[in-house]
Amino acid sequence: MAYPSYAAFLKALEDAGELRRISEPVATELQITEIANREMKSPGGGKALLFEKPTINGKVSAFPLAINALGSKRRMAMALGLESVDQLASQLEFLMKAKPPKSFKDALKLLRNGIDLIHARPRSVKSAPCQEVVNLLGKGEGGGEGELFTLDHLPILKCWPQDGGRFITLPTVYTKDPDTGERNVGMYRIQIYDGATTGMHWQVHKVGARHGKRYYERGEKMPVAICLGGDPAFTLAATAPLPDGIDEILFAGFARKKSVDLVKCVTQPLEVPAESDFVIEGYVQPGEMRAEGPFGDHTGFYTPVDDYPVFHVTAITHRKEAIYPCTIVGIPPMEDFYMGQASVRIFLPIFKMNFPEIVDMALPAEGTFHNLVFVSIRKQYPWQAFKVMHGLWGMGQMMFAKYIVVVDEDCDVQNTSEVLFRWMANTDPQRDSTFTKNPMDSLDHAPTVPNMGSHMGFDATKKIPGEGYTRGWPDLVKMDPETKAWADGFKG
Ligand SMILES: Cc1cc2nc3c(=O)[nH]c(=O)nc-3n(C[C@H](O)[C@H](O)[C@H](O)COP(=O)(O)O)c2cc1C
Repeated sequence: MAYPSYAAFLKALEDAGELRRISEPVATELQITEIANREMKSPGGGKALLFEKPTINGKVSAFPLAINALGSKRRMAMALGLESVDQLASQLEFLMKAKPPKSFKDALKLLRNGIDLIHARPRSVKSAPCQEVVNLLGKGEGGGEGELFTLDHLPILKCWPQDGGRFITLPTVYTKDPDTGERNVGMYRIQIYDGATTGMHWQVHKVGARHGKRYYERGEKMPVAICLGGDPAFTLAATAPLPDGIDEILFAGFARKKSVDLVKCVTQPLEVPAESDFVIEGYVQPGEMRAEGPFGDHTGFYTPVDDYPVFHVTAITHRKEAIYPCTIVGIPPMEDFYMGQASVRIFLPIFKMNFPEIVDMALPAEGTFHNLVFVSIRKQYPWQAFKVMHGLWGMGQMMFAKYIVVVDEDCDVQNTSEVLFRWMANTDPQRDSTFTKNPMDSLDHAPTVPNMGSHMGFDATKKIPGEGYTRGWPDLVKMDPETKAWADGFKG
């Protein structure tokens, strides 16, 4: 299901009892973080919060602010109009395994899913809600009575006390490959330097950074658009670990079962979703870098200052009734845990296609995405667990996985305590572990140098013949089915 606006999504959350309105003025400097952090730490992720009067330096903003809108399993599913994100995973799996139909029923089923694929294609539109108000910067024009409308008018959070400033935390960033014209949409945080200048925090491994490198090599200005709000499917698509070259907008259209309407930016040669709440248009100048950070990050620590490209704003367009979406990151669990968890569920069929022995996979909250990956497998041959680890380390953003623990298929990887039990009980640390060298998440403070480090895998599966274990693997302690059935009916 597609939401025609971010407001429509928030209304659906409110109707489902998933949203709390806060009508008191609350400061965008630290105060919203403290309220939101308490909410995100409550069981299951708490509720979405709509701050009706966020204040910027003591003045009430013209725009309400929403946070934690995706911060639970249920809200993540609702963002895609589903009961569970597993429904989308099943659909992807069906499409990947589709074979020529053998019956009319097969053909109809294939056609139904084919129709969903048609929705993947975006449509170009001429007018758009996101351009109801157009503010041009750098030309002396702007919204408001004589006052230039700038980034300073948006209720952008200063999240944590040691942050280097205010940061846009839930943006979708649109760029184009200058060689092929292929679009990319990624989520990269945006530090505000002043009303018309920001940082552009695409890390070195990300597609935005690759596009940027090509513009710098060509010595050309790089057009960039930062969108906020609209259908939450856009947000999910931007954070999803899609391979470079796969268009996030196609994926969003497929996921929400409705083509995305795209409109031309006012000042840049880019197209953006017409339903966005805000679009910040601008460019990155080749070679211009500036200190970015520190920022209280999803690692639970402040990431230090580093040089990143500078983004110059040329226009800010928005809906008349725009709502500013944001999140905070920090010590887990936070809203982004649920976003990451949804991505893993949705893309599990793709992992399984590459590694048919994979049964399930989980990235527990404590591992802040990449630090810890649990995988269960149906083991068939010696050292298969190591093959799976090395395969994952070679797959997209799985390259960042610091620790991978492989368990047998009868272990529920969604239950961290069950995995810890198997891991501790089943491994001889030296025999069952391996180290490798790989790129590392730019935000990880532990490696000696940024962006690369060691990674460790544990084979916590039962040892089978051929793996050198000679003692006879013991059985798990379990009650027999008859006694269990008797206990189920026991009334005493
Ligand atoms: C809340 C949130 C904030 C993020 N911030 C950044 C960021 O500042 N820089 C970055 O490179 N990736 C960031 N990411 C991760 C990327 O969005 C993610 O890796 C995405 O797949 C990148 O897209 P790309 O592969 O198209 O570049 C963030 C993810 C989330 C959920």
